[in-house]
Amino acid sequence: MPIDFRNLGYVYDKKSPFSHEAIRDISLHLDEGKFIAIVGKTGCGKSTLIQQLNALLTPTSGEVQINEFCNSSEKKKRTKKYKELRKLVGLVFQFPEYQLFDDTVEKDVSFGPKNFGLKKEQAIEEAHKALNKVGLDESFYDRSPFELSGGEKRKVAIAGILAIHPSYLVVDEPTAGLDPRASKDMMQMFQSINKEGTTIILVTHDMNLVQEFATDVIVMDEGRVAEVTTPVELFSKDLEHYSLEKPLIFKTASKLNASKKYNIDESKLRNVDDLAKAIAEGGK
Ligand SMILES: Nc1ncnc2c1ncn2[C@@H]1O[C@H](COP(=O)(O)OP(=O)(O)OP(=O)(O)O)[C@@H](O)[C@H]1O
Ligand SMILES: [Mg+2]
Repeated sequence: MPIDFRNLGYVYDKKSPFSHEAIRDISLHLDEGKFIAIVGKTGCGKSTLIQQLNALLTPTSGEVQINEFCNSSEKKKRTKKYKELRKLVGLVFQFPEYQLFDDTVEKDVSFGPKNFGLKKEQAIEEAHKALNKVGLDESFYDRSPFELSGGEKRKVAIAGILAIHPSYLVVDEPTAGLDPRASKDMMQMFQSINKEGTTIILVTHDMNLVQEFATDVIVMDEGRVAEVTTPVELFSKDLEHYSLEKPLIFKTASKLNASKKYNIDESKLRNVDDLAKAIAEGGK
């Protein structure tokens, strides 16, 4: 089942003199099974938008429907089964510190599965599997999540959500603070669970990741949805207005084509390997 935003808006501190309209009039339909990237300038409302998906924030106008759950500005329309909703939609915050709470990594990651009904041993098994997926071995199990590096904290926060096997995995800047190898491994792991059926919603400033992994892109601008498109379409346009950088391989291919020695089809490029192959084949 899909996700439907209907005229959704959110105003922070609505009734105070400091009220701020962060997103407005969002109407959007997202199909299941996709790998969707949400991009746009700092402060354009990406994090505010995704927090409506598991009812961490309640819209101040309009609503979002996720399967049978409705998060609405109208009290009578709201589905109040928040626990079920949070099993369906797993959200990893932009700042993982906000998500960690227990005194060991193992307890922290096993909390979710236990909370959703698994016995302690099974929950711990799920936690170990999830930690393995994000690249943390058993030496981390007994460590305090608060004494880890920024990148390790992020991995623990992601494992905590993976352990509950959500149908929609929403990740806000998941590779921030990770080294290049860990970042690539993390993205490939998201891709593999996407292929197994999990819908991925990724907020990122990294257009290289969008090009390589996303099937669809939502561009936000000043609190609104400016475009719903694909990476290929998006990167073939002028992106200055949105403050977006084109992916490196796209820029490289354009420069090679401009030299007239190559005629590379940019729409077929997803990663560096594709570009290298196109060059090796004489740039066709
Ligand atoms: N708790 C808050 N109280 C008041 N205003 C807020 C709050 N959180 C965010 N805002 C404002 O709402 C707008 C949207 O913020 P949001 O965090 O959704 O942007 P973003 O697109 O995720 O930005 P970034 O790329 O920097 O993460 C910004 O103008 C921001 O200043
Ligand atoms: Mg944000």
